[in-house]
Amino acid sequence: MDRLQLILVLFSYCLYLVLCQSSNLVCTKEFCDNYKQMVGCPGLHIACVAQNSTHSGTILRSATPCSCCETCLEHLREGEYCTIGWPGSPVPTSVCGPGLKCQLTSKDEHPICEKINDTECYKQQIAFDEANKNASFEELMGRPSCDGEGYFNPLKCNEEICYCLDKDGNRIFGEIAYSEYANLTMNCGK
Ligand SMILES: *[C@@H]1O[C@H](CO)[C@@H](O)[C@H](O)[C@H]1NC(C)=O
Ligand SMILES: *[C@@H]1O[C@H](CO)[C@@H](O)[C@H](O)[C@H]1NC(C)=O
Ligand SMILES: *[C@@H]1O[C@H](CO)[C@@H](O)[C@H](O)[C@H]1NC(C)=O
Ligand SMILES: *[C@@H]1O[C@H](CO)[C@@H](O)[C@H](O)[C@H]1NC(C)=O
Repeated sequence: MDRLQLILVLFSYCLYLVLCQSSNLVCTKEFCDNYKQMVGCPGLHIACVAQNSTHSGTILRSATPCSCCETCLEHLREGEYCTIGWPGSPVPTSVCGPGLKCQLTSKDEHPICEKINDTECYKQQIAFDEANKNASFEELMGRPSCDGEGYFNPLKCNEEICYCLDKDGNRIFGEIAYSEYANLTMNCGK
């Protein structure tokens, strides 16, 4: 091997190391720390920073190498325009907030965020509110509690006990004496 050949071999080996190491990304915390320092992540939308009653959002991993950065899906409010996604559609930058869903209405060409009121939990909530307009605090404890998608929250309390529900509101294993802190001590179905 003459000198030129040696240099060529060494050079291709170096190139190989550089290329392979950058295409075979190993997603470690170190990689992301480095990435954030060298490339940087765009700032989160104000909605995801504020997380108050008027500005809120869902934080997701973004389409960056190794998903090192986070992105914000801003929550839309009732009556605001939204987009109905389909497979392969671009990732939206906003979604209807908790308790709302994106729906086409007959009178409008654009879908808007509407209250979810067609799940069993919301139906029971609406019926409960109708029947308990001037209820006392104790009576209000019986109000069905729904999660953001309209399913039952897993824990329900009355004045005596707290117990577990499945997402359709059926009672499942798990019961303790009433406690304000029941949701910290009970792991219903988890
Ligand atoms: C929520 O946060 C935003 C942005 O920081 C602010 O402008 C707004 O006044 C806040 N709303 C409430 C109700 O605190
Ligand atoms: C549920 O919401 C839709 C659209 O907002 C409305 O037309 C309908 O009357 C509501 N149903 C009930 C039971 O509130
Ligand atoms: C319920 O409260 C409203 C005011 O909040 C009052 O006008 C009404 O008379 C009350 N109804 C009953 C049945 O107590
Ligand atoms: C427990 O209940 C409190 C008050 O109702 C609520 O703010 C909190 O989010 C609940 N925690 C969990 C883990 O559900």
